[in-house]
Amino acid sequence: PSTILKDTGRVVDIHTHVYVPSYLQLLRERLQVPRILPPLDPDDEASLERLVILPGEDNDVTTANGRPVTNGFSDVGEKLRFMDQHGIDISVISLANPWLDFLPDTEATYTTARNINCEIQLMCDQSPERLYSFGVLPLVNIQASIKEVENISRLGSMRGVIMGTHGCEGRGLDDPALVPLFQAIADNNQIIFLHPHYGIPINSGSALDTSGNEKGHALQLALGFPMETTIAVTRLVLSGIFDKVPHLKLMLAHSGGTLPFLAGRIDSCVAHDGTIADSLQHPPSWYLKKMYYDAVIYHDVGILATARFVDPKHIMFGTDHPFFPPPGDDTAKPKRWLSVDSNLEALDHAALDHETKRGILGENACRLLNL
Ligand code: URA
Ligand code: ZN
Repeated sequence: PSTILKDTGRVVDIHTHVYVPSYLQLLRERLQVPRILPPLDPDDEASLERLVILPGEDNDVTTANGRPVTNGFSDVGEKLRFMDQHGIDISVISLANPWLDFLPDTEATYTTARNINCEIQLMCDQSPERLYSFGVLPLVNIQASIKEVENISRLGSMRGVIMGTHGCEGRGLDDPALVPLFQAIADNNQIIFLHPHYGIPINSGSALDTSGNEKGHALQLALGFPMETTIAVTRLVLSGIFDKVPHLKLMLAHSGGTLPFLAGRIDSCVAHDGTIADSLQHPPSWYLKKMYYDAVIYHDVGILATARFVDPKHIMFGTDHPFFPPPGDDTAKPKRWLSVDSNLEALDHAALDHETKRGILGENACRLLNL
């Protein structure tokens, strides 16, 4: 393990997921992706159910079996053990993708959101000093989502909401209909944790398709996810949302996709295009620098690029647990997770001073989220 955990303050994981039992049940009852498939070998007790969630995942031989649904997905005790094992003091848990994006606009969907938030709160109540959370919204209906934001404000562990790039019925985050929702989130002093799910492009079969292609989940997760975030956030910025709702707070998964690297190019392309430049009060990078970024990028170069682009006080450590468990033999005795250690080492090796690293590991999240 990395040496960075020695001599630090609190360590906070702001990117760590749960699938509450009622959500798992909902996925079990579905016949289409996202869904849960029964264990591959029903006669073997050790054989686990399979989570198949990504678009097109069921169409490729290397991904069709999804990933095993381990206890880590829904068990608070397992989350706390993982935290203890890796020196994590506090976790801010969030429902994982694809949230409620696939549900219809019905009262039942609004109730599902309400119940899931209640379940997440009850999980946090089991260890109130160590567990905080982001809630989930029934984004298919804006008014119901605004009501849910108000409900989330009354749930003591919750500090904001997690959402994908889908928006309302797939119209994306720059849909003008979302402005009142963003306003409500900001007015309730909540933060949006923006997380990818769909990759690019959604239509399979093109030369740039990142799903499947007998490459397992690698292309989709390593490239599709961050490009999706990059595009969705750029579109949101170009919609002028931060001129309309200046106090909106966004935290971007995976160090903002590729935004710290591409910000200059986005600025330049906008500056050379009067149709869009005139509609914004500032260059795109000005808005991007107001956002918060996780440190789930697994490489010191990515950390350093993010820390040179935004104020490093806007960067926060995360693990993406329970995704990316240690590769190899599932039955081996518990060991440290490679995915966690790569992120710790990336921070350790980044050319940043100790105070800055301490901030990224936990103090920034404590301050921003009032933990
Ligand atoms: N795979 C997912 O589907 N979601 C994550 O957050 C990470 C990996
Ligand atoms: Zn994640």
